[in-house]
Amino acid sequence: MPDLSGKKVLITAGPTHEAIDPVRFIGNHSTGKMGIALAEEALKNGAQVTLVCGPSQVPSSNEISRVNVTSAQEMFDAVMEKQLGSNILILSAAVADYRPKNVAENKIKKKDTSLSIELEPTPDILASLGAIKKDSQVLVGFALETNDEEENAKSKLVRKNCDMIVLNSLQDAGAGFGHDTNKVSILDRHNNITTFELKSKADVAKDILRAIIDYK
Ligand code: CTP
Repeated sequence: MPDLSGKKVLITAGPTHEAIDPVRFIGNHSTGKMGIALAEEALKNGAQVTLVCGPSQVPSSNEISRVNVTSAQEMFDAVMEKQLGSNILILSAAVADYRPKNVAENKIKKKDTSLSIELEPTPDILASLGAIKKDSQVLVGFALETNDEEENAKSKLVRKNCDMIVLNSLQDAGAGFGHDTNKVSILDRHNNITTFELKSKADVAKDILRAIIDYK
């Protein structure tokens, strides 16, 4: 088991919800299971764990310092506040890339015409952490690609200045959103790529933490 005693680990998990009006939002199918499995595993291995979690029904241990957030902006603000002093940062949240530019104050009423909602980009939390990363920190991102998976993941690693990318493929049965299992490859800055078998998210979390400890 990787020893994380004395290490501060910050993890993001779950989806974000971007409000359209008081009753509707843009979201995604993330449940938070992978990120919460990582938080539990890091805790078991002796780390001091902070979990910044989007809307998720999945509980976490009391010893994990959990900050519940809703939107990408709230997740960004919480991560920026908590990142100071963190040794390991793992961004597994499925953050919305876009949000409605204007949030309607009242519920939008149905009309016979089509409706367009203008979207604007959300702050990129991983790229922002990459831009201020210290040598003492290991920054890990996630990527969910549907095509040219390794190439896209590699360019994401460079673009967002992370040390490692955990690549999930939607093409693998039993992997990804909602499942209790996952199948990942881990790419690092030294161009190492390790591909793992389909396994429980708890075991995937162990593999990811071991890769982080062995890195550098
Ligand atoms: N991420 C983030 N903040 C965002 C969007 C993504 O921190 N606003 C993080 C996710 O937590 C994950 C990684 O970035 O670790 C995933 O990036 P992704 O959204 O796939 O990358 P994009 O920049 O959107 O690239 P592309 O659209 O080309 O896939």
